[in-house]
Amino acid sequence: MKLIVCILFVIGNISNNGKASLDSLVPMSTNILFEDTTKNADKSCYRPCKFNVKPRRCHYEFKIEPTILEDGRPALTVNGMTPGPPIHVCANDIVVVEVKNKVVGQDMAIHWHGVEQKGTPYMDGVPMVTQCPISYGSSYKYAFRASSPGTFFYHADSVHHQSDGVYGALIVNQPQPLEAHSSLYDFDRSQENTLIVAAKFPELMTANLEDSSQLKPSSLLVNGLEEDFKIFVLPSYAYRLRLINAIAIECPVVVTVDRHEMVVIATDGKPVKPVSTSRVQLYPGERMDVVVRASEKMGGNWMRVRGDGACGNLSASAMLLHQGFNYTAMLHDGKKETFAKDTDSGTQIYGQTLESIQDVPHNIVDRSLILSIDRHVLQFKDTDNDYRYISDAIPKKPFFPASLSLADKGVVQINHKSFLYPNVPLLMRPNDIKKEIKCSVGEKDQSKDPQCLLALNAQQGELLELVLLNEGFGSNDSYTFHMHGYSMQIVATMQGSDGKPFSKETFEQLDNDGKIKRNIQTPPLKDTVMVPNKGFTIVRIKLDRGGSWLLECRSCSLALPAALVVNVPESLPKSLLDSFPKCGDYRPPDVLLN
Ligand SMILES: *[C@@H]1O[C@H](CO)[C@@H](O)[C@H](O)[C@H]1NC(C)=O
Ligand SMILES: *[C@@H]1O[C@H](CO)[C@@H](O)[C@H](O)[C@H]1NC(C)=O
Ligand SMILES: *[C@@H]1O[C@H](CO)[C@@H](O)[C@H](O)[C@H]1NC(C)=O
Repeated sequence: MKLIVCILFVIGNISNNGKASLDSLVPMSTNILFEDTTKNADKSCYRPCKFNVKPRRCHYEFKIEPTILEDGRPALTVNGMTPGPPIHVCANDIVVVEVKNKVVGQDMAIHWHGVEQKGTPYMDGVPMVTQCPISYGSSYKYAFRASSPGTFFYHADSVHHQSDGVYGALIVNQPQPLEAHSSLYDFDRSQENTLIVAAKFPELMTANLEDSSQLKPSSLLVNGLEEDFKIFVLPSYAYRLRLINAIAIECPVVVTVDRHEMVVIATDGKPVKPVSTSRVQLYPGERMDVVVRASEKMGGNWMRVRGDGACGNLSASAMLLHQGFNYTAMLHDGKKETFAKDTDSGTQIYGQTLESIQDVPHNIVDRSLILSIDRHVLQFKDTDNDYRYISDAIPKKPFFPASLSLADKGVVQINHKSFLYPNVPLLMRPNDIKKEIKCSVGEKDQSKDPQCLLALNAQQGELLELVLLNEGFGSNDSYTFHMHGYSMQIVATMQGSDGKPFSKETFEQLDNDGKIKRNIQTPPLKDTVMVPNKGFTIVRIKLDRGGSWLLECRSCSLALPAALVVNVPESLPKSLLDSFPKCGDYRPPDVLLN
């Protein structure tokens, strides 16, 4: 492993010589989003958001490369940092991020988690679905409008790259009077008061692709730190804090603040009816906004983050400190009060059981489909499975979005299918997808292969209901799913009470008997949901925008992906298509020299 890191560094350095050439890869100005923003660009777009002012163009450059961190640990960083530079903008600003991939032998793409990508489905950041992967030595310019306010984040599309450090906060602010719950807090300072939680691995996952399932996280981090992150407050004032679980594997986290209650006001960027609690739970990819009113008494308090699932036994902490308080003693005393003492009382709040603040319009569901999710042991050898997509990247090697060993633990599948990345980017070239790799949800299964491009072909405007059914014959795990481009209405979630596996037939029987209650009035709107073991979560999505949108279980396993793509027809103008980089059409200078 060490050797690989060294090589990454050597080649990474050489490639700096080719800087000028790397900069030349910029799509043509066929769309307003592609206008040159480097000149007169705003350095930082963090500012108080006002009414009736022109939105800004906020330009960022992300250089992704391997770095040895201060603690001696290797990581993939964005501009030398992990987490990467935070993005704080006002609603309707245009965010432009030029991503340069300096990681040898690795393809990259950045996903803007929770961003709706209205009008820009090709900026969603899924390689071979919405774009060509960014191969080593090349760059890609993302540009999208931050149309919805809220707490989001960005991360490398690959679980490995995200786990190795490529993630960061993305906060979209708006004028205070538009905030649904602004009366509940005095301060909303997203730059100081955002906590992004990650898991720290002892080694690079990217360097252990052959069997990264052996890698276990060794601790949790808040804003890249195990216990040093500090939030300064004034006595008796209320602060809006933004919590982000940016872990890519199945690690829910529970957050508490010693001696303080939290009022949950939003989940996944959308406001909810406020709920007061002492602890909140966030699944991987989920966000929650909470209000904490600082105590009157001068002092300092620990904020505790405890991991669950694959991060069981791990924790991290941050400090909530009154301005001017001497916290040296606090460090000496350590965190004597254990986590449990503070948190055993009170209910734990989950995002998907909250209620949206506004009633959802009552529409008739056009289609309801059941997705059977379970872990299956495949009767295949590793060599029978296709873990790669051929990106034509340089050097001419296939990229592996999943790790290379199934062992005999099985893989999580949807309708008995594992996701296969298409041969060309689906959104750009739907007609060039090989017929034999396609399989569809809700239509007769043409493909016998357990691995295929699983797609749900939808109509624009359709209200789709999906029952995410975690059957639990093959495992006792719960799974977290993320929907790209849309907020879903979470109308029901339930776990069977008898501890028995939950088949599709059982669900249909219960539903026909009217035993399944749906909250169609005030379902929370979320892009990330948990599907409980031997239970289900029912979501509804109003498909009002075209695009190829992934519905994925990122955290299901490191082996073959569990995902499907929701295809809403969208034809992109030829001039726009021509402006995108082609898969593998760029040769970094150092590679040519070798
Ligand atoms: C947590 O610690 C207990 C006791 O040491 C151990 O049995 C368990 O396997 C650990 N859990 C994880 C996820 O490592
Ligand atoms: C803070 O407290 C520590 C011990 O509790 C003390 O040694 C230190 O001098 C104090 N610092 C200040 C700036 O008062
Ligand atoms: C799930 O849990 C049950 C009861 O604890 C146990 O009997 C079963 O073996 C577990 N299944 C798996 C796949 O771990």
